Amino acid sequence: MKSYQIRKLFLDFFEKNGHKIVPSSSLLPSDPSVLFTTAGMQQFKSYYLGEKSPYGSDVASCQKCFRTTDIEEVGDEKHLTFFEMLGNFSFGGYFKEKAIKLAYEFIVNELKLDIDYVTIFSSEKVADGDWRKNIPEDKDSYKIWRDVGLPENKIRKEGIDNFWGPTGDDGPCGVTTEIYVNGIEVWNLVFNEYFCNNRRELKKIDSPGLDTGSGLERLVAVVQEKNTIFETDLFETIIGEISGQDERAKRIIADHIRSVVFLISEGILPLNLGRGYILRRLIRRAARYGKLLNLPKNFLIPLAKKTIEIYKEVYPEIKLKESDILTVIQYEEEKFEKTLERGLREIEKIPNLTGETAFLIYETFGFPLELIEEIRKVENREEFFVMKKKHQEISRAGAEKKFGGVGKEATEEVIKLHTATHLLQAALRKILGEHVKQMGSDITSQRLRFDFSHNQKMTQEEIKKVEDLVNKKIEEDLEIKKEELSYEEAIESGALAFFKEKYPEIVNVYSIGDFSKEICGGPHISRTSELKGFRIIKEESSGAGIRRIKAVLG
Ligand code: SER
Repeated sequence: MKSYQIRKLFLDFFEKNGHKIVPSSSLLPSDPSVLFTTAGMQQFKSYYLGEKSPYGSDVASCQKCFRTTDIEEVGDEKHLTFFEMLGNFSFGGYFKEKAIKLAYEFIVNELKLDIDYVTIFSSEKVADGDWRKNIPEDKDSYKIWRDVGLPENKIRKEGIDNFWGPTGDDGPCGVTTEIYVNGIEVWNLVFNEYFCNNRRELKKIDSPGLDTGSGLERLVAVVQEKNTIFETDLFETIIGEISGQDERAKRIIADHIRSVVFLISEGILPLNLGRGYILRRLIRRAARYGKLLNLPKNFLIPLAKKTIEIYKEVYPEIKLKESDILTVIQYEEEKFEKTLERGLREIEKIPNLTGETAFLIYETFGFPLELIEEIRKVENREEFFVMKKKHQEISRAGAEKKFGGVGKEATEEVIKLHTATHLLQAALRKILGEHVKQMGSDITSQRLRFDFSHNQKMTQEEIKKVEDLVNKKIEEDLEIKKEELSYEEAIESGALAFFKEKYPEIVNVYSIGDFSKEICGGPHISRTSELKGFRIIKEESSGAGIRRIKAVLG
């Protein structure tokens, strides 16, 4: 069976069983607390929490998804950054029994596959102190699996691997049962019974819902009896274009080109920040692995064309954007090529290539150790990791010192005003739109000054709305919380990062309730009520497309 037939069989099966088929939503979710769509349920999140679904209670979809959490695993048999997720969902319609029976019927009767085993949630396997420890064992699912005919020894009990969600800061979540075929997890059935808030506290939701997800590429691999997803018809023409012996490098390139094509089709461009940064990294990483395989210049272009061919019927938007996609890839690849050439020349010139010099090359040109080692033998390579760690510590300390234009000797007033810029930025983005980005900030002990991208003068009404919103958040007495994350994790969690300086690998992320989340060195106050009140005293132009606000507290 071909992949398009499997996709269709799934959707037809659920349509026949009373589900409304809903198209995939964009890879860019409306939920501001996540950067990309990572699961089929995301576009339905609010229907689990009481909002009425316009599609009725039971739906199914094939969703475009993008996850960077698995990026280091890409290259093995079963991990990807871009993938499609098949899923059926119910918002208060049906629950465990029908969900398990439908999944069983589809896998066993429609696809004619044998289930190796399934897993269910057991609190016994959850560590003491974990926020999911008090959730009872899923005896219902156990019984239902037994009723459909699965023997006891095919039902395994697991801990937190059988609990899913929430996506983003908060949302529905619950225990899961997972189905394994040929040793691969092919389907995850989530029973959303709880709402989890951003403090990881659980509350039962009024009517439980169902969220299932089955990675299409994995399902295709087991149906087509392939050992890896890269041997399926979703990949074979892409991989076939890439010559070379290094399977892992070929898989990484094949994975990344699909993500790159889909991300650009959604209007994302390579940048040094946010989603654009992730796109840039994927193109450059693919280009680097292309170098390792000695692929010709612009090798990504034919691969992008193949990707578009494979998906143009299912996702016509990528065909419509074909010329944009190819232009962006070519431009970025050429830009990177120049950096690479310079870097390679440097490596050739170095008389004694040690871990320490390799680290300097890595810092200057972004070449990872493995690429450098392809060109020259590195003496004393452990030195590379020692330097890297040392550097991280130094950059972290450095970032602590420079934040938003405030020096080390920051007074209490300055700390307050600086915290207020976070509220201001979030409020501007809510009232004027997400195009608003911090372009600069200057703080004295009397006032804050904040420059941001916006094309026209703010109206009196807009100024008032922004002020009111900041004051409302001050009154709400929100807590300001700090987390340490890797830059990628921070960006993925939806944190804003608008300073132009180079970020260290580990960054501080400051959240103010659910309202604001930014990468920042700090320090900050601990609760918004300390700010008392906020007033904008001036709004003026500060260059083309940039506005400037001056504001005071109290
Ligand atoms: N949301 C779950 C997952 O992503 C099931 O769809 O695995």
